This record gives sequence, C-alpha cells and structure tokens, in this order.
Amino acid sequence: STSSALDRAVDFVRQYCPDGTFGVDRDRTGIVLGSGLGTLADKIESATVIPFADIPGFARSTASGHRGQLIVGSFGGGDVIAMAGRLHRYEGWSNEQVAFPIEVMVKLGINRLIASNAAGGVNPKLRVGDLVVISDHIDWLHRRGSFSAKADSKTIAGSIPQRAGNVYTPELAQTALAAARANGFTAVQGTYLATLGPTYETRAEYRLMRTIGADVVGMSTVPEVQVAANAGVAVLALSIVSNVADPDRAIVADHSEVLQAGDAAAVKLEHIVRRVIHAAYSK
Ligand code: HPA
Repeated sequence: STSSALDRAVDFVRQYCPDGTFGVDRDRTGIVLGSGLGTLADKIESATVIPFADIPGFARSTASGHRGQLIVGSFGGGDVIAMAGRLHRYEGWSNEQVAFPIEVMVKLGINRLIASNAAGGVNPKLRVGDLVVISDHIDWLHRRGSFSAKADSKTIAGSIPQRAGNVYTPELAQTALAAARANGFTAVQGTYLATLGPTYETRAEYRLMRTIGADVVGMSTVPEVQVAANAGVAVLALSIVSNVADPDRAIVADHSEVLQAGDAAAVKLEHIVRRVIHAAYSK
C-alpha cells in the first residue's frame, strides 16, 4: 500500500544519513528548488546527497534543469531537506506521485516548506527576474479530480479532496517580503495558476489568465504545497518570473536573458531562505 511505500522511503533516507540527523523536536525546513534555481543546493553544509532514483517509491525527475537529488544538511543555521529538482504532472506522474517526496519530508519532521518555481509573468507589471510571493493559487490540475478519489486515506494526499482553503502562511510571506526589502530587490504577492503543461500558453490563454486574476502561471507547486499544508506544515511558495506573457505581442524569449535572470533570481531565493530560517531560530 501507499503508506508502506512511504515508510520504506522514510526508512531509506534515515539510514542513508548520519545518526542523529533526524532528532525529534528540531526545527526543520523542507525546500523545493525549481527550474534553474538549484544553486542553493551547493551551499547546503554537511550535505548528504541522495539521488531520487535510489529512494524506494520516488518517481524519477526527467525534466531538464532538474538534478533529481534529495539533499539533507544545514543552511542558514538550520536543518534542511532540499529537493534539487521536482516532479511534474506533464512527466506523467499523478498528484500523489508528485507530492510523495513532500509526504516523506513530513514524516522526517519538517515544520515548514519553502517551494520555488520558474513561472510565466501574466500580470503586466511583472518583468523577467521579478520575485512573486505566492499568496493564493488557481488549480487547473483538474481541481478536485486531480487527487484520485481512490487515494489511500492513510496518506496526506488521500485526504486532500476534503480540504480547501488557506495553504500559504501569511507570516512566512511577510518574512519573504522583508528579506527582499533588506537585500534591495522587489518582491510582490500574487496568485499562481497551475497548469498541467507541458505546453506554454497561447496569447488567448494568457489573456484569459489575466482576466481571471492570475499573476503568474506555471506547471508545478500546487500538489506539493497542498500536501504540506494539510499536514499542518507552514508554507512559503515563490515564483521567479522566467518569461513575460504579453498577450498582445508575440515576444520571443531571449534564452541568455532568461538564464541571467535565473542566476540573479537564485541569489534572491537564497536571501529569503536564509532569513526565514534565521527568523525561526530567533523566536
Ligand atoms: N507558462 C507555463 N509555465 C511556465 C511558463 C509559462 O509561461 N514559464 C515558466 N513556466
């Protein structure tokens, strides 16, 4: 069953890491590093690096720019479990499979999740490289049908259809905005629209997305944060704008521009993660 698959994965990670890594009552942050945002992974200290492919029950990350490693260690003075690379619906995985690593993190004792992604800027005010603190989302992963009605009720994902509402923790959003101010870059709050992908949008679709109140659009994050929130884990989710979706002009994205923005954005993400962890320890 799903729950024993979960136990096997959790046991595997525990045994892979040095004794005492998962002491109870320790503050611990789960981090999901999205497309092009993997540089933080190299700064994790005392790192134990576990390939997803080695962990029982983990689906393999196949999207380019995703390393497919679970990294356990410390960052910013706190314990972290980071996913360098994530799973996507467009790779053929279900919401349950996409969120399975989060279920593992929950069992390993995270009390906070920071999820990041690269997203298209739908709000006309957004520019490439801008950082959006996600305050709400629109789930186009088939809404309630996206988690199977037959899901194992012993897993968190299995309980998703009954729960709706507040996923994003306002206090963490405020800390992220404060980190941006302190480090001299702008961040705004916004609504993330999740699509199944893998196709990007037509201009008509971008126009529709603006109309219904989306600020950014991407193909990830929603299954992961739903599972974390349902487990009582505090959630911060961040989008880096990798391209601007202008429905009135066919803009050909300049690849080197986007990569540069990614590099600058990775530094922004590091500032925010450091501050969030630091704030947790100075309470
Ligand atoms: N649309 C959907 N997903 C994305 C985009 C986009 O424009 N940019 C990055 N991920």
